[in-house]
Amino acid sequence: MKVLALALALGLVASGTAWAAGDTAAGADTARVCRACHNWGPGATNKIGPVLNGVVGRQPGTYAGFSYSSAMVDFGKKNPAWTPQLLAQFLHGPQSAVPGTKMTFAGFTDQTDIDNVIAFLQTLKADGSSSAATSQ
Ligand code: HEC
Repeated sequence: MKVLALALALGLVASGTAWAAGDTAAGADTARVCRACHNWGPGATNKIGPVLNGVVGRQPGTYAGFSYSSAMVDFGKKNPAWTPQLLAQFLHGPQSAVPGTKMTFAGFTDQTDIDNVIAFLQTLKADGSSSAATSQ
């Protein structure tokens, strides 16, 4: 039931977008590459990149205490929230989605990786807890 509800919720978010509901557990695994620069989970602190707790729905460039590029701050002025679609573009090619960003990750070429990582990011609540048991 819980899995079904999550699938439905993700489906609603995805409807009308290029983003398809991904696999949360696979996304947690794929997101290990993000750990080089990002922290998440209880008590997470900024690293080379900002904390990713609650990033889906958050205004780009606004996590407290992180020194963003002006490119990301400007992007956040134009885009009030990280939606799955914006994240999909950003994770496909950070530099093309946000020219001048200081995120030096090359981007994923596989759309499945992107969908799975976004599904995983959606489980990360702003308070550092997770709606999935597979987040760590
Ligand atoms: C090499 C280091 C590095 C890696 C690897 C990396 N990031 Fe980042 N990330 C950054 C930096 C630095 C920023 C801040 C960008 C800026 O200010 O322009 C950032 C910003 C972000 C943001 C915007 C956050 C906000 O608060 O607006 C998201 C979302 C994000 N990264 C997701 C990811 C994901 C998901 C992965 C793994 C697939 C990843 N990053 C891998 C360094 C990295």
